[in-house]
Amino acid sequence: MNQTTADGWVAFAQSAFHEQPQAQRDEAMRSASLAAMALMLAAAEAGWASCPMSGFDPAAVRKLASLPESHLPVLLVAVGKAAAAQAQKVRAPVEQLWRRI
Ligand SMILES: Cc1cc2nc3c(=O)[nH]c(=O)nc-3n(C[C@H](O)[C@H](O)[C@H](O)COP(=O)(O)O)c2cc1C
Repeated sequence: MNQTTADGWVAFAQSAFHEQPQAQRDEAMRSASLAAMALMLAAAEAGWASCPMSGFDPAAVRKLASLPESHLPVLLVAVGKAAAAQAQKVRAPVEQLWRRI
């Protein structure tokens, strides 16, 4: 993404979510979750295993990564070689999870 495009997105976010902390947080969760999913799909394509984790200490992660207070740690994603091939776990059928409208 070039700087002009990035600046445009920042300006949009600043105006759309101005003084709406809940909407800011919701959007951060959405955006970071989509980014994590993209990372995990790219990792899988490259032959890596990955695992999302939300059970962490946000303050400790903020300190470790030198994140400013304005940044919200949403997910950690471990990426590496799986110790052994894992069998696919049972998943709910997709028809149960979405409906076409
Ligand atoms: C949003 C999210 C957060 C998760 N957080 C954790 C976590 O903090 N610790 C953990 O052991 N597993 C966590 N998991 C579960 C693992 O990422 C993983 O899904 C689990 O080990 C089972 O993997 P599988 O069902 O694909 O085999 C989380 C899963 C999701 C979707």
